[in-house]
Amino acid sequence: MKKTILTGIRPTGRIHLGHYFGATKNWVKLQDDYNSFFEIADVQALTDNFDNPTKVRENVREIAIDLLAIGINPEKSTIFIQSMIPEIAELTIYYSNLVTMARLYRNPTIKTEIAQKKAIFGNDGESVTYGFVGYPVSQAADITAFRGELVPVGEDQLPLIEQCREIVRKFNNIYGETLKEPEAYLSKTTRIKGLDGNEKMGKSLGNAIYLRDNEETITKKIMGAVTDTNKIKKDDPADPTKCMVYYYHDLINSENKEQICKECQEGSRGCVTCKKELIKNMIEFLKPIQEKGKYYEEHPEVVDEILLNGTKKAKEVAKETMKEVKKAIKIDYYD
Ligand code: TRP
Repeated sequence: MKKTILTGIRPTGRIHLGHYFGATKNWVKLQDDYNSFFEIADVQALTDNFDNPTKVRENVREIAIDLLAIGINPEKSTIFIQSMIPEIAELTIYYSNLVTMARLYRNPTIKTEIAQKKAIFGNDGESVTYGFVGYPVSQAADITAFRGELVPVGEDQLPLIEQCREIVRKFNNIYGETLKEPEAYLSKTTRIKGLDGNEKMGKSLGNAIYLRDNEETITKKIMGAVTDTNKIKKDDPADPTKCMVYYYHDLINSENKEQICKECQEGSRGCVTCKKELIKNMIEFLKPIQEKGKYYEEHPEVVDEILLNGTKKAKEVAKETMKEVKKAIKIDYYD
């Protein structure tokens, strides 16, 4: 019997290289060995985008296309939309009794995110909503509704998995053995740096290359990428480890990357030439993904069918879990 994995992605923007190398590329491999559920977490996206439903709505589709384009295969995996499975929201309510406010505020992921919000909005946290502080509870429902055993996530999400495990243990203690305790599945991928040299490539940082960026956009972005600032003239020797252009040559495994590195160090390679080469290689690297993506962009009815079928399949599992949960809590009236 294959083990079940469940993971999710917030539909707040298309998939970029950071998310691809940091997570989703790995999902494609996992689907061969596991019973796989990939959730498009629109309800979670709304926790901090409740005032921008159009953004979430549009990106559900974009994320679905991105996932299919990179090779998530709907024959092997289940891709579904979170809001279409109200059982998740229902579970969240019952789990919310098992988590204290103090524990949620102590959750390192929530703590960091609240600190970031305070920094952006400059208030003392008054604008932090109940829904936002509670999203780890909802994420615990995401995982357990589908009896997820392994949860592929990045390191930043570990506290959320721990929170889920605590909820499961408490539930089972009080109501009897019902739920499965999941484990995090940490992939060995690294965090991908942004075009500006920032340690993280991120949507909100404006330093990302998206998988379906067109040639013009890729060109513009790479031409603006940060290089070794000590290099002034074209034939100055430079340090490739301080250059984002070399960093991406290395990331996408440009054929002659050793040569590039050497020429950069020697000062026999200008940055413009190097960038042009990266643009060519990047376009080539993204081509198979973009070709697949284009097919789905042109066949929205195929995407709809995949999402509908996946959601239907996921709902069956969530319904079963809900039944057991209600029985355990003794609210299975007239069943
Ligand atoms: N919180 C995750 C993120 O921001 C997305 C997510 C939603 C998720 N539901 C999940 C991850 C369930 C793992 C399991 O990336």
